[in-house]
Amino acid sequence: MNIIEIIEKKKNSKVLTYEEIEFAVMGFVKGEVKDYQMSSLLMAIVINGMNEQETIDLTDIMIKSGEVVDLSKIEGVVVDKHSTGGVGDKTSLILIPLVASLGVKVAKMSGRGLGHTGGTIDKLESIEGFKVSLTDEEFINQVNNVGCAIISQTKNIVPADKLMYSLRDVTGTVDSIPLIASSIMSKKIASGASIIVIDVKVGNGALMKNIDDAIKLSRLMIKIGKKYSRRVICVLSNMEEPLGKNVGNGLEVVEAVDTLKGQGPSDLNNLVLTLGSIMVSSALDITEEEAKLKLLENIKNGKAYNKFEEMVEAQGGNINNISLEKNVVSIKSSKDGFVKAIDTESLGNIARKIKAGRLNKDDIIDYGVGIKLNKKIGDYLFENEELLKLYCKNTDISINEILSCFTIVPEKVMKPTLIYKIIK
Ligand code: URA
Repeated sequence: MNIIEIIEKKKNSKVLTYEEIEFAVMGFVKGEVKDYQMSSLLMAIVINGMNEQETIDLTDIMIKSGEVVDLSKIEGVVVDKHSTGGVGDKTSLILIPLVASLGVKVAKMSGRGLGHTGGTIDKLESIEGFKVSLTDEEFINQVNNVGCAIISQTKNIVPADKLMYSLRDVTGTVDSIPLIASSIMSKKIASGASIIVIDVKVGNGALMKNIDDAIKLSRLMIKIGKKYSRRVICVLSNMEEPLGKNVGNGLEVVEAVDTLKGQGPSDLNNLVLTLGSIMVSSALDITEEEAKLKLLENIKNGKAYNKFEEMVEAQGGNINNISLEKNVVSIKSSKDGFVKAIDTESLGNIARKIKAGRLNKDDIIDYGVGIKLNKKIGDYLFENEELLKLYCKNTDISINEILSCFTIVPEKVMKPTLIYKIIK
């Protein structure tokens, strides 16, 4: 067996065996299969796909590339949450402490930005001192003592995904249902939780551009979960526009804090409540309506924010020290009208270009930069009214490039649907 034959086989749309996938993935982990060979195989998979069995095999091999966390030392049911990725998606920063404030344990491993989408770990690193790496023992102790922890996937958990993920990020090989399903499910299974809620983003800012693909991905992840006796619930949510108003790491932390204090934008707040109700009702065996009331109560009485602070402090962070870029440019509309559409992926790529994300594997992020939207779909604005603020040092981004992300029309536009479907 050799890697070139495996690449050729997938290039010719043939089905790979378990042994062939194992040869490629484990060879890559060991450094025997080179970056350029893996990139080529990944591109062949993006173009020609993988069938269900190949995807299940890939997931299994990825899990076995590392260790599986033993969460049995955590008392109570442990729930986990994952997002397939979007622009402005800071949900985990709010949801994890909120759910934990009700006594539901959350042991969460998160990722960095991928393609035009942001990542929770990059956002948390904008908090001065926040440690995203804990040992297994520290992680488990924190979940037992504080109720939650969010850490970067450790080196030992699915190392294959860690390596493939950063390669996919910079080789145009992110958007593939089998690669996404195996990447997410390998990490979720290896991280040990028994109930996993997945926010499957759908729309022009998401990896899944349409509902049919999002349903396919959801069913595949639920099926993979069943093989490992995990309960997977998928919530298909709107990503036709950024979630909330802020895009960019430090700015997103600020918005997450506002939302934990009950002052967040309504779409972000509603999504957090939907996902949180499912997590809490599954863990505490109560109805989703009861769970939602409990969540609302803990936002109101400050327990949710206090839990966030407790988690940040436990991980060495100082939440009072989020430094945002001082150079802020106001971008104004060139005409009157309603915002009909936002090219969210392009906006995410603009954020990436101003260094809120990475264009190359080793790029250093600037945590203070980003975009703060003043208008979203369905909002009216006058000519010369502020559309958004750009927090950015460099001025290579043209105003036209930003304005071209927005479609503004004279006719009234409805606010978009937030939750499309829940698949259990
Ligand atoms: N999130 C992941 O963890 N992996 C993917 O491939 C896409 C989104």
